[in-house]
Amino acid sequence: MESLLKEWKGETTIVRYDQPTGAWVFIAIFSTRLGPAAGGTRMRPYSDVQSALQDAFRLAEAMTYKLALCGMSFGGGKAVIAIPPDFDPKFRSGVLSRYGELVHQLGGLFYTGSDVGTSSNDMDIIAEKGSPYVFGRTLTAGGAGSSGPATALGVFSGIQIACQHVFGERSLTGRRVLVQGAGSVGGALIEYLRSSGAEVKFSDAEEASICQFRDDIGLQCVPVEEVYSEECDIFSPCALGGVLNSRTIPQLKCRVVAGGANNQLAEPEDAARLKDRGILYAPDYVINAGGAMFLAGVEAQGWTKEHMEKEVTEGIQNVLQKIFELAAKKGITTEAAARQVAEKRLSAAI
Ligand code: PHE
Repeated sequence: MESLLKEWKGETTIVRYDQPTGAWVFIAIFSTRLGPAAGGTRMRPYSDVQSALQDAFRLAEAMTYKLALCGMSFGGGKAVIAIPPDFDPKFRSGVLSRYGELVHQLGGLFYTGSDVGTSSNDMDIIAEKGSPYVFGRTLTAGGAGSSGPATALGVFSGIQIACQHVFGERSLTGRRVLVQGAGSVGGALIEYLRSSGAEVKFSDAEEASICQFRDDIGLQCVPVEEVYSEECDIFSPCALGGVLNSRTIPQLKCRVVAGGANNQLAEPEDAARLKDRGILYAPDYVINAGGAMFLAGVEAQGWTKEHMEKEVTEGIQNVLQKIFELAAKKGITTEAAARQVAEKRLSAAI
C-alpha cells in the first residue's frame, strides 16, 4: 500500500474507511492541470484493498488523458468504493450518502458520475449531499441521465474510423462485430451496429442480457470462454478492464479492437502485442470518451442533445484519425501515439 502511494504519479489520494459498512473509499486525483478532476465512481468488491487503490490510480490516469484528448476543461480523477464481498444492499444508500458528503467537502476538486457498479439512481443519492459536483443524476432529479448511450455513440463512430483505416471504407455493412458485454454501453452499441448493417455477435455473463439479445432479438451469443478466439472483423470489449493481455491477444482472430471498456490493456506491453499481431487498437480512453463528453457537455456546458451528438461523433473520429495516422507514420503503437497527443495538450496548458 505504502509503495503504491509513493510511486503513483498523480497529485492527491483521498482515503476513507467507511466504518458502518467496512467499505474502503478511494478518490484518486491524477491531474487538475486542465481543470477540476472528473471521473466516475466505481463500486464493487475487490479481492484486496490494494487492488482497489490500484484500480482507482490507473483509472484516474486514463481519465486525465481522456478529458485532455476530448477537449473538455477537466482534469482526471476516479473514485472507487470497495465494498466487502458480503455487502448487504440495504447499506447501499448509507455509504453513498456519506460518500456524497465527502465529495461536497472537497469543494469542487473532484466531479463525479456513474461508472461500473453505479447508476443514475446512485448519483441521485450521492448528489443529495454532494451537489453540485455530481453528474449523471436521473432526468427526474434534474440530471442528464445515463452516459451509456453517448459512450456507445462514440464507440460506434470510432469503429467506423477504424474500418476506414483498415478496410478502406467506413461502412459497416456486412462487417462482423463481436461485442463483449451487453450492458449500458455494449447494449446501446449493439443497436447502433445493427442499424448500420453490421453482423453482430455478443457475449455476456449475465443471464438477463443473454435473454434480451439472444432470445428476444435473435443475436448469436458467444460463450464467455470463447470470446477471444471467435473469428470476427472487430472485437469490441465493453465490459471490465484487463481483457487484452498476454493470454488473450494471441487468440484474437480480428483486425480491429475497438470498445467502450476502460483500461482494456492489462499491462503496457499489450499495446505492442496487438501491433505485432497486425491488429489495430483504438485506445480505450479515446474511443470511450463519449460518456465524459456527454456529462460535462450537457451538464456543465449546457449542450443540447444534437450538439452533444455532433461533438461526440466528430470529436472522437477526428482524434482517432490523428492517432492512427501518427502511429502509422512513426511506427509506434496507437496507445503511444494517443499518449503523445494527450501529453502535448497537457503541457500546453499552463
Ligand atoms: N465513468 C465514465 C467514464 O469513465 C463517465 C464519467 C466521465 C463519469 C466523467 C464522470 C465523469 O468516462
